[in-house]
Amino acid sequence: MNVRHFTDLSAVSAGDLRIMLDDAVARKTRLKAGERSRPLEGKVLAMIFDKPSTRTRVSFDVGMRQLGGETIMLTGTEMQLGRSETIADTAKVLSRYVDAIMIRTTSHDRLLELTENATVPVINGLTDDTHPCQLMADIMTFEEHRGPVAGKTFAWTGDGNNVLHSLLEASARFRFNLNVAVPEGSEPFEKYVDWSKANGGKVRFARSAEEAVDQADCVVTDSWVSMGQEHRARGHNVFLPYQVNAALMAKAKSDALFMHCLPAHRGEEVTDEVIDGPHSVVFDEAENRLHAQKAVLAWCLGA
Ligand code: CP
Ligand code: NVA
Repeated sequence: MNVRHFTDLSAVSAGDLRIMLDDAVARKTRLKAGERSRPLEGKVLAMIFDKPSTRTRVSFDVGMRQLGGETIMLTGTEMQLGRSETIADTAKVLSRYVDAIMIRTTSHDRLLELTENATVPVINGLTDDTHPCQLMADIMTFEEHRGPVAGKTFAWTGDGNNVLHSLLEASARFRFNLNVAVPEGSEPFEKYVDWSKANGGKVRFARSAEEAVDQADCVVTDSWVSMGQEHRARGHNVFLPYQVNAALMAKAKSDALFMHCLPAHRGEEVTDEVIDGPHSVVFDEAENRLHAQKAVLAWCLGA
């Protein structure tokens, strides 16, 4: 049987993504009802972190434990990877010990090289280019609050980063409209826009944040400077017109949701009144990382 990797939403069929989301909802319901099952008993997940993390690290660790499995936490700098052992050799060695590998790393090519050389499933825990686990939790969260996402309208305002790239892929896979407002010079990579459009995504670039969020069902933003992108940092004045504040939220539908993958930089991309306000579902998103990733693990490991 082919190894099931979870590298990107574009690399997994819409049908399988929907199976995972349904499974995530079922697992959350069973967990809340106090039911416990241990389908991954005896399985070990290696987690490699080349960048900091709170949610991804803790939710994968707790998720594996809840499924009966265990994790090994590795940081790139403490491994021989940090002394120039290749990703390919690392993939081959780890595949002899563990049942799956989750990696948060810098370049997307490192993830792909790991995937090509591993004989166990590899899960993308964020790269410079994408963050697919985040989008699984986000779609789950949207549907919990507002029902089926197909046909709804999301608005992204801010930096054109890894989370936006996965949102672009999600818009095609889950069939929702996506309005994007980013400052000149912070556009998402064209290949993600092109892929989304070629696969049925209804992506529209707006001239302003106000235009993007107009009548949106969900407003999404993220930090103006992603991890490892500090060299690309641009003045706050460039991004200020894209800040999600109460005035901007008021342009969206009256029952619009506000999403942010966290960590948030309060007073920059979002104000306290929005992130702590009635539209915000940011902590549901964070919680759903746990449930969505348990479904991803179960899918990858056939549990
Ligand atoms: N949203 C997210 O991936 O958070 P962490 O960086 O804390 O893992
Ligand atoms: N775009 C952010 C997401 C953090 C979860 C970053 O890459 O730093």
